[in-house]
Amino acid sequence: LDEPSLGAAAKFRLFGAAVSVNHLSEPPYTHILNSQFTSITPEVEMKWDATEPAPGSFSFDAADTLVRYAHSHHMRVRGHTLVWHTALPSWVNESADLLQAMRNHIIGVMQHYTGHISYWDVVNEAFDEDGSRRKSIFQERIGDLHIEEAFRVARATDPYTRLCYNDYGIEGINAKSDAVYDLVRDFKRRGIPLDCVGFQCHLLLGTVPPDMQTNLQRFADLGVEIHITELDIRMPVPASTAELQQQAEDYRKVIQACLAIPHCTSITTWGITDKYSWVPGTFPGYGAALLFDENYKKKPAYHAVLQALREA
Ligand code: G3I
Repeated sequence: LDEPSLGAAAKFRLFGAAVSVNHLSEPPYTHILNSQFTSITPEVEMKWDATEPAPGSFSFDAADTLVRYAHSHHMRVRGHTLVWHTALPSWVNESADLLQAMRNHIIGVMQHYTGHISYWDVVNEAFDEDGSRRKSIFQERIGDLHIEEAFRVARATDPYTRLCYNDYGIEGINAKSDAVYDLVRDFKRRGIPLDCVGFQCHLLLGTVPPDMQTNLQRFADLGVEIHITELDIRMPVPASTAELQQQAEDYRKVIQACLAIPHCTSITTWGITDKYSWVPGTFPGYGAALLFDENYKKKPAYHAVLQALREA
């Protein structure tokens, strides 16, 4: 009998995971990846520091391994990410012409992967919580226009892949999601290429915004696809039974918000197992954020997600 599968239960939607090439040699990791997921987001392998460590000198070995792995297992790939204020090689800070460096980076990476990537996170995390532009190196040295320029260059480089803006803290209606909404509406009006918005969903236990579905819907109404791109729900560790139950409820709410919207076409969790989650490294004392525990055992959240997908 086939194991139940998130990917199969999601039907026309993709159900993906952030994956690192380092873990592909671990049998339980690949077993779950292959049997449960239909999409891969490289967790670090496609970032600027990994793909262009020196100006004009590209290195794709690790990312290529993931892309080949995905395709040989009939999974899609979400490219992540082309323009982001962090994971930059140090030469970018010294670049005399950052706009040209940004264009060259987008072209170099996207050309290499033409035909292999379903969606690209072209620009990642360009806004602050108050809705202003994040003071990234791109904002400071190029200005507001760097975002639309990135999307224009991306479309010109590969007209067949779908281009996303991706951010965190925009799951509910707030100053930041308002700012992203205004950007998307403006891009659509002016014909700047943008096909999808990624809602990362790095959430703290018990904090799924009650207006999440309303928020996703207003973006969908602008004519973009909606993606849940980096879902995880962290809690203090060790986790209690009650907390794991609350987490299952939280996951269910996020999945249901997506399922209520036909344009919500992709859900990705930011990792497979709590063993390798980024959370404990960034939020000391927190963890247990994913669907499988550190021993690859299915958590209550896994069962809640599977059930929500099946009911849709
Ligand atoms: O590969 C080196 C290793 O050789 C070295 O020994 C080790 C020592 O620190 O570092 C390793 O690299 C780390 C890499 O993850 C691989 O594990 C980097 O230091 C570390 O900064 C990097 O962190 C990643 C981070 O993005 C920055 O790229 C996280 O794994 C990854 O989960 C995180 O993902 C981001 C999304 O891209 C955007 N949204 C937020 C999300 C969480 O921060």
